[in-house]
Amino acid sequence: MKIFHNKSELSHHLSNLRVNKGSVGFVPTMGALHNGHLSLVTKGLSENDYIVVSIFVNPTQFDNPEDLVKYPRTLEADVSLLKTVSDKTIIVYAPSVEDIYTDTVKSQSFRFDGLEHEMEGAFRDGHFNGVGTIVKRLFEIVKPNRAYFGEKDFQQLQIIKKLVELHRMPVEVIGCPIHRAEDGLAMSSRNTRLTKHHRTAAPFIYKTLKAAKVKFGTKSAKNVTEWVEKQFKKQELLKLEYFIIADSKTLKPVKRKSTKKTYRAFIAVYAGDVRLIDNIALN
Ligand code: PAJ
Repeated sequence: MKIFHNKSELSHHLSNLRVNKGSVGFVPTMGALHNGHLSLVTKGLSENDYIVVSIFVNPTQFDNPEDLVKYPRTLEADVSLLKTVSDKTIIVYAPSVEDIYTDTVKSQSFRFDGLEHEMEGAFRDGHFNGVGTIVKRLFEIVKPNRAYFGEKDFQQLQIIKKLVELHRMPVEVIGCPIHRAEDGLAMSSRNTRLTKHHRTAAPFIYKTLKAAKVKFGTKSAKNVTEWVEKQFKKQELLKLEYFIIADSKTLKPVKRKSTKKTYRAFIAVYAGDVRLIDNIALN
């Protein structure tokens, strides 16, 4: 497996592959890879000759410095896991902070038609400027034909689609379904930081999302939201940060239901000091 730590060496290698008309898919990650990441890689491999997986814990998207320090960094294990999928057609790009942010470790400022103000944008200051900065930079380095993002971070996926549209970048952005553990917890690199007790409590998040979906069939968004908030008050180990039912396109909270629109429920929960997010399509 080819592993690059330097953008010029990676670019050089990729241009050689393109000479032979090889198509390049791209899966950006922050590492601590799990089956959710692998599902993106597998989908990418079914549609491209090569897949670049970037592994980079991007400092500018962390609003909480402690979260950045504690973010798991497991490059060796990540590479071994990727080798189980394909040794020859996966290329790893694991840059240093200096390779990405040459002079200053700072975000560019973006507008994403208002998508950036909702949910994660409202609760994590500067988060989507950090995500926009790194993904734009990575797209410029890798120049992929297609890029794969998980619906686990649904708002991020919509924002990347908007980034590509607004900046006219020649890449097709493809969304992939949420991969879950058997008990329903959405896979996340942060799950490894959960204590045993919190890990046992965490499947309640998806269980509640599924129940909310059923209720949304007959009840108003306000009604469902109040019900969810009440359920979390009874949970000692889980602290609800937000539960929001929003329009899947604009991500604006729903005021009055319309049969012509599609909605999703979005949730952020603290399990101890670990922040978990999840979402579900409602109709
Ligand atoms: P990270 O959290 O490592 O996620 C990398 C990609 O994997 C994202 O597109 C995310 O949505 C997807 N993913 C994570 N867990 C998933 C799951 N359970 N099922 C399906 N897909 C899943 O998201 C980031 O990194 C960063 O913000 C990044 C885009 C790399 C920019 O730094």
